[in-house]
Amino acid sequence: MLREGQAKPTQRADYQAPAWWIDTVDLTFDLDPAKTRVLNRMRVRRNPGVPAQALRLDGDELNLARVMVNGGGTSFKMDGSALVLENLPAGEEPVELEIFTTCSPVKNTKLMGLYVSEGTFFTQCEAEGFRRITYFLDRPDVMAMYTVTLRADKAQFPVLLSNGNLVDSGDLAGAGNEGRHFAKWVDPHRKPSYLFALVAGQLVAREQRITSRAGKEHLLQVFVRPGDLEKTEHAMNSLMASVAWDEARFGLPLDLDRFMIVATSDFNMGAMENKGLNIFNTKYVLANQATATDVDYANIESVVGHEYFHNWTGNRITCRDWFQLSLKEGLTVFRDQEFSMDLAGTPSARAVKRIEDVRVLRTVQFAEDAGPMAHPVRPDSYLEINNFYTVTIYEKGAEVVRMMHTLVGREGFAKGMALYFERHDGQAVTCDDFAQAIADANPGSELSQRLEQFKRWYSQAGTPQVAASGSYDAAAQTYTLTLRQSCAPTPGQPEKLPFVIPVEVGLLTEDGQAQTVQLLDAAGVARSPAASSLLVLSEAEQSFQFSNVALEPVPSLLRGFTAPVALHYDYSEDALLTLLAQDSDAFNRWEAGQQLAQRIALGAINNPAVIVDANGEIAENLLPERFAQAMREVLRHPTLDAAYKELVLTLPSESYLSEQLEVVDPQRVHAVRETLRQQLAAALQGDWAWAWENHRDSGAYRPDPVSSGRRALTGMALHMLCLDARRSGDAVWPGRAYQAFKDAGNMTDRFNALSALVNSGHPLANDALARFHALFKGEALVLDKWFALQAGATDRGGQILPAVKQLMLHPDFQLQNPNRARSVIFSFCNGNPGAFHRADAGGYRFWCERVLELDAINPQVAARLARALDRWKKLAEPYRSAAREAIARVAARPDLSNDVREVVTRALAD
Ligand code: TRP
Ligand code: ZN
Repeated sequence: MLREGQAKPTQRADYQAPAWWIDTVDLTFDLDPAKTRVLNRMRVRRNPGVPAQALRLDGDELNLARVMVNGGGTSFKMDGSALVLENLPAGEEPVELEIFTTCSPVKNTKLMGLYVSEGTFFTQCEAEGFRRITYFLDRPDVMAMYTVTLRADKAQFPVLLSNGNLVDSGDLAGAGNEGRHFAKWVDPHRKPSYLFALVAGQLVAREQRITSRAGKEHLLQVFVRPGDLEKTEHAMNSLMASVAWDEARFGLPLDLDRFMIVATSDFNMGAMENKGLNIFNTKYVLANQATATDVDYANIESVVGHEYFHNWTGNRITCRDWFQLSLKEGLTVFRDQEFSMDLAGTPSARAVKRIEDVRVLRTVQFAEDAGPMAHPVRPDSYLEINNFYTVTIYEKGAEVVRMMHTLVGREGFAKGMALYFERHDGQAVTCDDFAQAIADANPGSELSQRLEQFKRWYSQAGTPQVAASGSYDAAAQTYTLTLRQSCAPTPGQPEKLPFVIPVEVGLLTEDGQAQTVQLLDAAGVARSPAASSLLVLSEAEQSFQFSNVALEPVPSLLRGFTAPVALHYDYSEDALLTLLAQDSDAFNRWEAGQQLAQRIALGAINNPAVIVDANGEIAENLLPERFAQAMREVLRHPTLDAAYKELVLTLPSESYLSEQLEVVDPQRVHAVRETLRQQLAAALQGDWAWAWENHRDSGAYRPDPVSSGRRALTGMALHMLCLDARRSGDAVWPGRAYQAFKDAGNMTDRFNALSALVNSGHPLANDALARFHALFKGEALVLDKWFALQAGATDRGGQILPAVKQLMLHPDFQLQNPNRARSVIFSFCNGNPGAFHRADAGGYRFWCERVLELDAINPQVAARLARALDRWKKLAEPYRSAAREAIARVAARPDLSNDVREVVTRALAD
């Protein structure tokens, strides 16, 4: 329900071109944390393409001091927070506008617009933060040339940065300017306001000069607080690799003399691609082996790449409106995924990256697509755009780009990208424009033949379900595979039309050998023999015929996960074991193991004879010996990579299992998964010990895929050994874990050992946690890990909620700092279902209080927390009613932000 005075949703269908253009902006900042003065001189002009209208400038929490037009006074009015100029000169002549405002960065806890973090000024303008700095046409299709002058106290703010090139700097003269200095920056590229940035404070930089393929010189800089410089090497290496990769793979060079990254510890998201001045959460910049894990190193590489790749896909070609967000985000995620895979090198390391990406998609995005916040990759409406920086826009959007890549091939995709830049460089465009360019560059391809239908991936929400069935004709040696697709209703979309779904398929024999077969095309003509074929499903139901199939096949379907769909095929257990042991497609090999584990878990969850006792434990053996043996064979396999083994041996998560159920009893899901883990620990005890002893590295630390994989597997082994020690009462392995924790030469090994002790609930954990805190008390990012580990730890009897409440009273806890708030509150509410969903509803009460508390500080962060209960309708009683009540309690507050209101209103809708 919309209350009086509340904002109305923005509709995609209402898009209109701007009535005015802004050609140039000249900003002068007098930076003062309490009161910053902003002088904005713009040259604006009427858009001749649309009927004459008043100039209506966006603003938010600004204090307006003065408005002048062509050097003189003018009339203006305020309409809500917008500044409206109705009497500007008619005609197409440019108008000089001067607007003087002030704002208070130190009071800006939303971290949108201009704010202060640890004494340094930062900005965050995407999506609509620029209007918190000055009045503007704050929409991405208004692109202007920016000149920026920063003036500030020299001792407090020695470094003054903005987009583009530094053209002038020096001390300020005159009365009142004692000790003050200035810097003037000119950005040589037109840009939308969301890409504006400034930084001012005490910073130091790691610098690197590079020469492009074309022989151009560039300066790369990574700015951090003094003391953090030795943690910037990996970020700089990642940046250099990104520049080289975009040139090599897509022919896209760096278009700036200077490219800067600045790190801040107060940031709502991961990082931001401001033109030439990327601003990063410290989490995605700072790393050394003592403080960062292998996962941190990999994340830094991918986020540095992501923001750098935005320079072309996002900045040079930007979005016409925010409904097109996936135009830049889906494409840029696809590019950063490819970048990480290309750097990983070996096919096995590429497969590991692909599995990790798909795991996120299937656990988080599939859940989003099945819940109240489900939306198309190109949404049709939003109340608060910040709520639409989602896994659907990013990860599913990347899968849509990947499907185009699959349909036109690697070369064809490169041609499509070239055409996209040829057509649209310097423009603000739509998802349609992108798909059209890829299709037009590939005439005759499946994509160009079915483009309109393919684009349903942009307009229809929901995860398509694909049911496969096969029949083998031994006499004719043919195999017919029938695929049926369907898609459940999502909010506002009761009915779905068929999608275009690329399905890569291979056929194995029952004993696991690859069969080289021939797919018959639409005309019944056999294609050349192949071990793998790409089927394109475009109808509700379609059959595909293979000839030359010598033996009854075991199909390997959706190899490499060629489409973001849920695939169903009624495999026998033997067939899954064959795929797990033999499939040449690494993704499907992993997937077969996951399916086996999922069957066992769901079977136990749904079996009323399996009793969970008062301690949340299950006495029965849930682990079939065949499965244990298959897992043992993977663990002991002579050639598989350690990283890959770790993925196969990890059971599907509680959230993933819950999504496969109609009605979820989270405590039962937790009990079954924990029991399986415990039993896998026991059944493979000797194998885990073998894995631990044989994969430990003693050489110098390097975060490469091979040695990271070894550490991941030894970490897992140690964890399983400590879990088993808990059962057997053995003291040896916890003792070794404690020793490994103390002796570790890097954070990955140290944290894995600590985590093994904490998650197995061993008494040594407390001592280890205290030592860890003492060792790293000055390292904010390490303290985040310390908090997150405890808030995300395995619950046994409800001890986590009280522990979380205690953590919030810890002197190092700070609600205002998003990283710290996430490390405690999100790790518990979003990352620890077994602890969060309590029969006494304590978790939900805690959630409700934190959402409201955070909403008053930072609505964007609060709204993300609010989504923890998105799937409440699936819950069994008493959880379901308690969850609804908690959401209703939030929704009842009259003073909610749009951000939180949108999330809870959708959650409660029918
Ligand atoms: N465009 C950024 C990215 O994908 C996302 C981002 C960073 C963001 N900070 C934000 C989005 C604040 C909304 C609000 O890399
Ligand atoms: Zn992005």
